[in-house]
Amino acid sequence: MTKRDNSPPAVPRVIGHRGAAGHAPENTLASFAAAAALGVRWVEFDVRLTGDGALVVFHDETLERTTDGNGRVAETTLAAIRRLDAGFWFGKAFAGERVPAFEDALATLERLDLGAVIELKADPPEREPETGRAVARALRNSWPATLPAPLISSFRAAALRAVGDGAPEFPRALLVIKLESDWQRQAEALGCVAMHCRENELTPELARQVLDRGYGLRCFTVNARKRAETLFKWGVEGVISDYPDRLLAK
Ligand code: G3P
Ligand code: MG
Repeated sequence: MTKRDNSPPAVPRVIGHRGAAGHAPENTLASFAAAAALGVRWVEFDVRLTGDGALVVFHDETLERTTDGNGRVAETTLAAIRRLDAGFWFGKAFAGERVPAFEDALATLERLDLGAVIELKADPPEREPETGRAVARALRNSWPATLPAPLISSFRAAALRAVGDGAPEFPRALLVIKLESDWQRQAEALGCVAMHCRENELTPELARQVLDRGYGLRCFTVNARKRAETLFKWGVEGVISDYPDRLLAK
């Protein structure tokens, strides 16, 4: 296969996972603030559609684990989701924290001067194209001009395709658990500039292959400094961490 010739965007080596999920309730504005306070320059977070077609920053398909509500995000309205407490489960100090609407998250990134890896989640899978289109629209309307272009990632091919069709100027990364033998075919088909894979599924040989073919390479979720150092030795360009403070150079 050919070597890709457009270079990946400049993304720092340490990226906060769901904000800084080890320090504050994941995917909340408090988690973004915690990341910024730790000196992180970019955060990863998840975005998905509500029942009434709004975008919210939220990881799970259902509300139970990280809010005081229940049911599927995809079957709940934005107004109902915004009434839920998304912080108390993590710690009393975070009581009253809300599930951010995507546009509020973008405004907070601007205020905190944080770049972002934006991961598209889609449930059910038939909503992948709609999710990609909605994210493309929101980014074109509201991505802060003061920030570097975000990197859009997803495990979901149709969501990546749709966001790429709607806003091709934002670079994309294909998320995989493991790099399968046809990873480059998939990445090329979706116009991705980078691969994001699970840290414990990577080998030095696979890392070399990805880099030699001109793709960016990042790993999730890396919480131990020693492991991050090993991955960086293999050429991995960035790691996504719940505890980015453990990995930032002292
Ligand atoms: O984007 C990397 C990582 O967040 C993917 O897995 O389940 O934490 O969204 P998950
Ligand atoms: Mg994620």
